Amino acid sequence: MNITVIRATETWQQAGAYYVRIQGMAKQHNITLRREFDEHDAPDTKYIVLTDDDFPVATCRFYPLDGSSAMIGRVVVLPEYRGKGLGIRVVEEAESWLRELGYTLAVVESRDVAVNFYRRLGYEITDSTVIHGDTFDCIRMEKPLCGINYPELFGLLFPGFFLSEDIRAIPEEQVLTELVMDLRTTPEIQPVPCPWHITFGE
Ligand SMILES: CC(C)(COP(=O)(O)OP(=O)(O)OC[C@H]1O[C@@H](n2cnc3c(N)ncnc32)[C@H](O)[C@@H]1OP(=O)(O)O)[C@@H](O)C(=O)NCCC(=O)NCCS
Repeated sequence: MNITVIRATETWQQAGAYYVRIQGMAKQHNITLRREFDEHDAPDTKYIVLTDDDFPVATCRFYPLDGSSAMIGRVVVLPEYRGKGLGIRVVEEAESWLRELGYTLAVVESRDVAVNFYRRLGYEITDSTVIHGDTFDCIRMEKPLCGINYPELFGLLFPGFFLSEDIRAIPEEQVLTELVMDLRTTPEIQPVPCPWHITFGE
């Protein structure tokens, strides 16, 4: 795979988000265009699009709920690209963008079948009231957007190493404790040689 992350601010880039949503979700669940594209597909909505060799394969969107929290939604990966980490990637890219914009809380309304996917990303159910949508029943989940990027911090503390992808399995609040307690015996943390240099001031 040759994955590129796009913060889709241009119409032609957002077309990639719409393509993935129609192909990967709407068509399979008989969701009409009118229901798929709602009032939150608006000029201020932000979209992430992942492409593989320039063709869109995964997407999500987010929009503000208030000054500090935002809703991430319409998370879709094309069926043939599922199970390769792209769902996690696309949500994490949205979270990074939200952090940069100063948001401190990410909210999702998860389909019941996707709750464990969001748990994997560190989201927790804060209100178990079922939200009855047009097509799916959903549950609200939230994740505080800590300002610290742990893999980046780790790279700065231990030059030459970076955290394996499995760091994502550890809830954020445990990461530093785990690192401090015993770096080498924490099974989820597997230092491996860093393939790039971290530079400052760029
Ligand atoms: C949900 C979805 C976005 C996941 O995308 P993906 O690329 O397959 O997910 P990843 O490969 O990044 O999976 C990451 C982890 O979540 C888990 N996961 C993925 N989909 C899951 C699901 N539906 N339920 C539970 N866990 C799931 C994976 O097992 C994996 O965990 P692991 O690394 O411990 O094995 C994708 O299945 C999809 O597009 N579904 C249709 C649209 C949808 O339902 N979106 C969510 C709306 S709320």
